[in-house]
Amino acid sequence: MKAGILSLVGNTPIVQLNQFFKDSRFRLFAKLEAYNPGGSIKDRPALHMIEAALRRGDIGPGTTIIESSSGNMGIGLAQACRYYGMRLICVVDTKTTTQNMAILRAYGAEIDLVSKPDPVTGEFLQARINRVQNLLHSIPDSFWPDQYSNIQNAIAHEQTMREIVTELDDRVDYLFCSTSTCGTIRGCATYVRNQNLQTKVLAVDAIGSVLFSDKSAKRLIPGHGAAVVPKLLKRDLIDEVIHVSDLECVVGCRRLVTEEAILVGGSSGAVVMAIERMRETFAAGATCVAIFPDRGERYLDTIYSDVWVEQHFGNVSHLWRNSMESKPCTMATY
Ligand SMILES: Cc1ncc(COP(=O)(O)O)c(C=O)c1O
Repeated sequence: MKAGILSLVGNTPIVQLNQFFKDSRFRLFAKLEAYNPGGSIKDRPALHMIEAALRRGDIGPGTTIIESSSGNMGIGLAQACRYYGMRLICVVDTKTTTQNMAILRAYGAEIDLVSKPDPVTGEFLQARINRVQNLLHSIPDSFWPDQYSNIQNAIAHEQTMREIVTELDDRVDYLFCSTSTCGTIRGCATYVRNQNLQTKVLAVDAIGSVLFSDKSAKRLIPGHGAAVVPKLLKRDLIDEVIHVSDLECVVGCRRLVTEEAILVGGSSGAVVMAIERMRETFAAGATCVAIFPDRGERYLDTIYSDVWVEQHFGNVSHLWRNSMESKPCTMATY
């Protein structure tokens, strides 16, 4: 038996997907990061950044942790900070969902709401960073994990890749990984390189994100994509980049729940649609792994709301409804 909730971070399950690419020449496995206790892949770097700072003596029980995050990282930090009895101030903006704010509060985090974008850049992200800086100056014994620059964010994911290759006996031909801070892809790709594996590492980014393109545009779905290029991005570790639209994310998610009964977040939908685009290039018999960063419940008012989908994309339900028919009845074992 393990002690304490944080001991359950990591070692998430991997499942083979048999329906989404039925009769294909490759095997597809999904790493289900929703099984982390805080509900997402961000439990890993949140815990890693906090524990590394504790080990260095940079923080202790009286420290106030301050981070700009409106989503999964905030929740992962809220969990770790609650466990270690530290105060957390999460700097969010008006785009943060009420559900995420409720989860943050339930863990005991304080919410600092930035209501106006930065007057110089017009970006909320810059306004949130400015607010973090102000809070750091005014609160003694305060600490900013800084998920976009903190190498511990990436180091946490060397373990993610270790788990994948251990489970699949070192045979991973393609790894598809969504990107934002680039912690996941940097950590996984570093492991691949250090172990001399032949795995091709593919980044899945949102159209409108500036990570691999200078064409910034409005994005509807949170998670993957970024408005700034993080220090953690190391382009030479990445073999290929695939850009996916918001509509493709929705279609990917809806098809996953329809065909595989897996309810996941937007970036997981993006990843399967990227695989769909690349599948013709895979060698016969290849093993492909998709990282699914979080669960679908945090997207019930958007991706899984018919009203929201119709409002933004029109009547598109035929893009996943057809696959509902003629499901074979194969028994699952448990
Ligand atoms: C749902 C989701 N998917 C993908 C990502 C991207 O992961 P990373 O920040 O490690 O690049 C994030 C990051 O916040 C996320 O919340």
